[in-house]
Amino acid sequence: MTKFRYLTAGESHGPGLTVIVEGIPAGLGLTEEYIEKQMSRRQKGYGSGGRMKIEKDRADIRSGVRHGITLGSPIAMWIENRDFANWTDAMSVSEVGDDVDKKVYTKIVPGHADFPGALKYGQHDLRNVLERASARETAARVAAGSIARRLLEEIGISIHSRTVATGEEDGRAVATEDVDWNVVEASEVRASDSDSDARFKAAIDKSKAARTTIGGVFEVVAFGAPVGLGSHVHWDRKLDGRLAQAMMSINAVKGIEIGTGFTNTRKPGREVQDVIVPDPSDRRMFRQVSNHAGGIEGGMSNGNPIVVNVAIKPIATMTNPLPSVDINTGEVVEAAYNRSDICQVARACPVGEAMMALVLVEAMLEKYGGDSVDEIKRNHAAYVESHQVFGSS
Ligand SMILES: Cc1cc2nc3c(=O)[nH]c(=O)nc-3n(C[C@H](O)[C@H](O)[C@H](O)COP(=O)(O)O)c2cc1C
Repeated sequence: MTKFRYLTAGESHGPGLTVIVEGIPAGLGLTEEYIEKQMSRRQKGYGSGGRMKIEKDRADIRSGVRHGITLGSPIAMWIENRDFANWTDAMSVSEVGDDVDKKVYTKIVPGHADFPGALKYGQHDLRNVLERASARETAARVAAGSIARRLLEEIGISIHSRTVATGEEDGRAVATEDVDWNVVEASEVRASDSDSDARFKAAIDKSKAARTTIGGVFEVVAFGAPVGLGSHVHWDRKLDGRLAQAMMSINAVKGIEIGTGFTNTRKPGREVQDVIVPDPSDRRMFRQVSNHAGGIEGGMSNGNPIVVNVAIKPIATMTNPLPSVDINTGEVVEAAYNRSDICQVARACPVGEAMMALVLVEAMLEKYGGDSVDEIKRNHAAYVESHQVFGSS
């Protein structure tokens, strides 16, 4: 069995993005249409910028799949940047003359990678930093995450997400376990009820009118995970730690909460632990009466839904730019403005799902091994069956 890993490459306005996913077993049904459907979810969203109208993302599979079935070899994908047609000179791989517009930019956007990236990499054109720092790269992660999601489906794991806050507006009226995910998918702001939908949109409209941006919180949930993904035995195998790293790596994400982690801090200990009771009707033979832990105890999944809340900051690029400085002259200027979103919370949701899927697939492959989907399914079934010896007397 090959270790699961993936790598993305590509600049925001370059020719396209490349993704290689390694360690996916043989025998998984996978189509470009399945991946495209997931990628299109990242492109919808109230308050999205103009680019989403240009790009209709599609990942072309270049290796690792034959006749709609994975081979167990690395899966390479190519995602064309349709906007590249307008950037052939500015993003040319080969040298260009001084007579063409290189779209050099030097006015630092506070809150972007511009300043530390320029100093670290010795760049006088901030585009050399921004092009890779841009959230365009998350399209590649969603493509990789779609393959992970497809594999998780085989053992009954499904992943969903919704917006739970936009600015000051809270959208948690419906509890996680009661959410109708079709309602969320139909909402342009990924709200789980019509009242939140209206309030989120009004908040985004207000931000747009004020020429500013707005952030929020989104929730990612995995249903059907078995007990025991991740491990307590070492810091870097803990599932919660791995999820936190993965979510935090999403552009603009600044906070993460597992289960009700933050509200738990304001409650007495007796109210926040998930009491366990025997339950022969449960495949684990036991059941927790609540899920404050968000499905993870001691760095391992405990069989309950895995619930992660992710805080995402308001976008740094604004139609009314902040005061800033020029990286080369030190002159006080207005920060650069490029076409940009007002609110990216809904668009970040599918990225969060992708990161959840990638972490869970890695942990699942560690647990079950297996070079083919059938082998994984057999190992999974035998493991789940083995729980029956506990609590059965
Ligand atoms: C889906 C998504 C879309 C984004 N769109 C924009 C955008 O249009 N304009 C922008 O300035 N930042 C956008 N961002 C955020 C920046 O990429 C991010 O703030 C920047 O790279 C700096 O990284 P940091 O905020 O993680 O420190 C987006 C983030 C995500 C997840």
